[in-house]
Amino acid sequence: HLYAVIMAGGGGTRLWPLSRRSHPKQMLAISGEKTLFQIAVDRLSGLLSPEQIYIVTVEEQAKELSRQKPEIPWENFLLEPMPKGTASVVALAAQAIQLIDPDAVMVVLTADHYIQNVEHFHRLISCGNKVAEEGFLVTLGIEPQYPATGYGYIQRGNSLGEYDGLPYYQVKKFKEKPNEDLAREFIERGDHDWNSGMFFWRADRILEEISNLMPELFSIISTIQKAWKTDRRNLVLKEYWEKIHPETIDYGIMEKASRVACIPARNLGWNDVGSWESLFDVLPVDETGNINLAKDVFLEDSTGSLIVSSSKADRFIAVIGIEDIVVVDTPDALLVCKKTETQKVKLIVDYLKKNG
Ligand code: GDD
Ligand code: MG
Repeated sequence: HLYAVIMAGGGGTRLWPLSRRSHPKQMLAISGEKTLFQIAVDRLSGLLSPEQIYIVTVEEQAKELSRQKPEIPWENFLLEPMPKGTASVVALAAQAIQLIDPDAVMVVLTADHYIQNVEHFHRLISCGNKVAEEGFLVTLGIEPQYPATGYGYIQRGNSLGEYDGLPYYQVKKFKEKPNEDLAREFIERGDHDWNSGMFFWRADRILEEISNLMPELFSIISTIQKAWKTDRRNLVLKEYWEKIHPETIDYGIMEKASRVACIPARNLGWNDVGSWESLFDVLPVDETGNINLAKDVFLEDSTGSLIVSSSKADRFIAVIGIEDIVVVDTPDALLVCKKTETQKVKLIVDYLKKNG
């Protein structure tokens, strides 16, 4: 059977000041009524039942996420005592799911991506499920747009076949977050995809890779698994989770694993909403050429700009004569930033961490 694992513990610091530690990106309703987390779950409807959907998150976010999606059983919220990166997220989910279904295939998803073509997404999931059943670690590739340094890159090798008209390939090399020169080289070669951060594998297969490539994590996870169905679960989880060395699935497993396959996803309308600028790729601009997500706004002689206000701020905002500017207003912080520089917003979060 197929199970979805939604990783929902990250901070999303580049959407500051709307995204905060206590209220991260996946909990935001950036456009419309639903939060990114609700959209991520609803995207699976018609494909998986709520019982087949697992959420891995930190304790401080779990209650709010459960409130946003009450149909997902509370047992399916797997709580990390503290964030230790996506490798431990995957390991925790794999051991829990394996106990329920030894033949389980997992699709690992994130809670903070936009996907426009949901019908195509469902086809890709069926294909990923099938390739994972064959024993591959499967990545969904995205057609690269520019030499991004914040993504993983997948080099396609030989064709492995086709399912429902979707071709899939052996992965020759997986490189997480290359520097700009290397990223440019990958794009020029034309045989690389971006890693979408969505994966498929059998639970037992990924645990086997973890035992080979991250033996310390595997040993901690095995200890946790032994206590999972006992009343000692939380005690053991707390005690051993602390010892985990933080690592991502991309560096820890994907760069070194064997039998990795890639399904290139084309025309999926995927966007990782990694910065304010990326909203221009997913939201329509109005007749003035701007995106206005605030309620009470006076906008004059301005183009290419984004105005956001948190519902709690709700102040009157007036801008005149601005071009390609992002304005984000919240009760206790205001951001004004050139559209093309919004990647640097994470510098503000680093600054605030140091200076209170
Ligand atoms: N529960 C939990 N705990 N979730 C986590 C943790 C954690 O410790 N760390 C990260 N996540 C969640 C994030 O919320 C996000 O949804 C997802 O896992 C990926 O983490 P990011 O921190 O956003 O990773 P990234 O964007 O730097 O890189 C990954 O995604 C790219 C595509 O967006 C990699 O997989 C790249 O290879 C990929 O290109
Ligand atoms: Mg990300």
